[in-house]
Amino acid sequence: MDRGNHAIKGISLQQIKKVYHDNVVVESVDLELAEGQFLCLLGPSGSGKTTLLRMIAGLVKPDGGRMLLNGEDIVSVPANKRNFGMVFQQYALFPHMTVWDNVAYGLKARGEKARSSRRRSKST
Ligand SMILES: Nc1ncnc2c1ncn2[C@@H]1O[C@H](COP(=O)(O)OP(=O)(O)O)[C@@H](O)[C@H]1O
Ligand SMILES: [Mg+2]
Repeated sequence: MDRGNHAIKGISLQQIKKVYHDNVVVESVDLELAEGQFLCLLGPSGSGKTTLLRMIAGLVKPDGGRMLLNGEDIVSVPANKRNFGMVFQQYALFPHMTVWDNVAYGLKARGEKARSSRRRSKST
């Protein structure tokens, strides 16, 4: 998969499912997201928001369904090859840095130029 230009043109989730110890925590999630779209997942604590994001990032493997990025199935693509950024809630943040710096950190670690990472963090 060539993700060299970082372009995300579309994400498609089809019937995505996750089960932990017989407990279905994400069930039949269908979602289409086009380039430039901004999506908020809202739901009570424990409803599966983080699990869904972790599956998209490749940190958790779905137990069912399909996940396409730009039309290619990414379910078997490892997290480090997906080129997704994820800013975690609370524990994995740097408390001495601003929200903006925390968002920019992943881009900086990846070697993006300062100006470009500032611009991209701002648009996040
Ligand atoms: N690694 C795990 N092992 C077992 N259960 C988990 C695990 N991660 C999450 N869960 C359970 O899955 C459900 C959804 O959790 P989560 O995705 O963190 O919800 P949210 O982010 O919406 O608060 C919760 O019941 C949670 O306890
Ligand atoms: Mg959560």
